Amino acid sequence: MNNIDWSKLGFSYIKTNTMVCSRYKEGRWSPVESCTDDRITLDSLSASLHYGVECFEGLKAFYGKDGKIRIFRPEENARRLIRSAAYLGIEAPSEEMFLGMVLRAVSENKDFIPPYGSRASLYIRPLLIGVGPQLGVKPSSETFFSVLVNPVGAYAGGIDDPARAVIAREYDRAAPHGSGSYKVGGNYAASLYAGMQAGKAGYQAVLYLDPKEHKYIDEFSSSNFFAVKGNTYITPYSETILPSITNKSLCQLAEYLGMKVERRAIPTEELASFDETGECGTAVVITPVSVIEDKPSIQAAPTVVYSYKNAGAPGTKSRKLYDKITGIQYGEEPDIFGWCTVY
Ligand code: PLP
Ligand code: COI
Repeated sequence: MNNIDWSKLGFSYIKTNTMVCSRYKEGRWSPVESCTDDRITLDSLSASLHYGVECFEGLKAFYGKDGKIRIFRPEENARRLIRSAAYLGIEAPSEEMFLGMVLRAVSENKDFIPPYGSRASLYIRPLLIGVGPQLGVKPSSETFFSVLVNPVGAYAGGIDDPARAVIAREYDRAAPHGSGSYKVGGNYAASLYAGMQAGKAGYQAVLYLDPKEHKYIDEFSSSNFFAVKGNTYITPYSETILPSITNKSLCQLAEYLGMKVERRAIPTEELASFDETGECGTAVVITPVSVIEDKPSIQAAPTVVYSYKNAGAPGTKSRKLYDKITGIQYGEEPDIFGWCTVY
């Protein structure tokens, strides 16, 4: 047993029992192993270290009201990892292998799944990296795939702590026709500098615009953007954002709850007409955004400030969607769409 204080969990590293791994070399995957050491040994000329040949995933497991474990939509993450790997030109585990390793990692670390009632969860981090010694800039012929788990609470503030966001006009996280829609490490590296500047200026989130024209909302550095206007859920359509599994689920839930759903280009000026705005994603779940400041640069004075009435709490529609999605994840609500793998 561990002595974790589940009520104090944030989003930081905690050593668990095992990490589940396999290596791909010369046309086959090695037998899946459970390692008690999270550290890995790599060739120092691995392309993941030099050229960013790496992709990852993020999903969660929950202890439900009925004492069962639920993993949220893992097959969606498997498909997205396979898509990212194809972009990098490296071998990915099959969907079946991905699911088997995720289940094994969760089973071997059951004592790290936060108990029902804590509102925390077990974050699952699959990682696929190019390994093997190589000097040339090309995809790796060898890959290493691991699934590590980590108990987590809120990523930033959480549902009851709305964020202040800044539009990063002088930075892009992705290029037009670039890697923005793939879950590759380079996109996160590209967001760090803007994130540091924004943090120093007192913002919790950076909102990126479309990198071609800087006219439309794209997404945050580690979550998608959504807004509510009357009874409509609105979220960007863009080729440079990550296709969020949480956002896809919220669109389905919004429709189920009788809302209209629009996935389309959102010009920045439209921010003035929204009732609620927020971040959505596996780590942030739904984090409301109460203020968005549009500035020529993060240090400059704002040109426009958009404020939402949810200054100290989520708006009513965001709260309803949050309650519904977390209700399904914790087994408190019927899993109407069959999203959870339950065991
Ligand atoms: N956008 C980015 C850039 C992310 O890193 C994430 C997190 O995974 C998301 C969106 C949300 O995606 P998902 O809901 O699949 O976790
Ligand atoms: C997630 O929500 O799973 C993410 O990957 C976000 C971040 C921790 C990278």
